[in-house]
Amino acid sequence: MRYDDILLAIQAVSDPDAGYVPNLGNAAAILKEYLPDVNWTGFYLLRGDELILGPFSGRVACVRIRMGRGVCGTAAKKNKTQLVFDVHSFPGHIVCDPASRSEVVVPLRTRSGDVLGVLDVDSPVKARFNADDVTGLEQVARLVETFLWKAEDGETDGAG
Ligand code: SME
Repeated sequence: MRYDDILLAIQAVSDPDAGYVPNLGNAAAILKEYLPDVNWTGFYLLRGDELILGPFSGRVACVRIRMGRGVCGTAAKKNKTQLVFDVHSFPGHIVCDPASRSEVVVPLRTRSGDVLGVLDVDSPVKARFNADDVTGLEQVARLVETFLWKAEDGETDGAG
């Protein structure tokens, strides 16, 4: 199964003591490389009332997204995965790469379930993602958020 391979690959290259930046960067790169028909993969991290662009793979993206705005801000505000078959029908969708047509955004959480940020995966193909992708990407989020926990705990050497 494709997502099992993705999870193994992220684990294989992870170095949790190196801070979250390299680990989220490699996770974004692995998702982009392993998933067909995907044009942007990456992270936004919650800072105050805004999501700030984190490590990603793809075209230049907007730096700040307010809570509740666009697909990412909606996922963060509702603390709930958003599966969007056609971004053109999502009210307030924020266009970064105009080629994007469908997307999945999954919240990243603290150990106690509060939102830390989101994982955003975009495709140029309409209705590219289904319930299996949601399950797989939520598993990826459960792994990746642990890299952020170390940073939240102040256990990094400053790299994250
Ligand atoms: N489409 C997102 C914005 C982020 S980019 O696609 C990278 C949204 O509406 O939240």
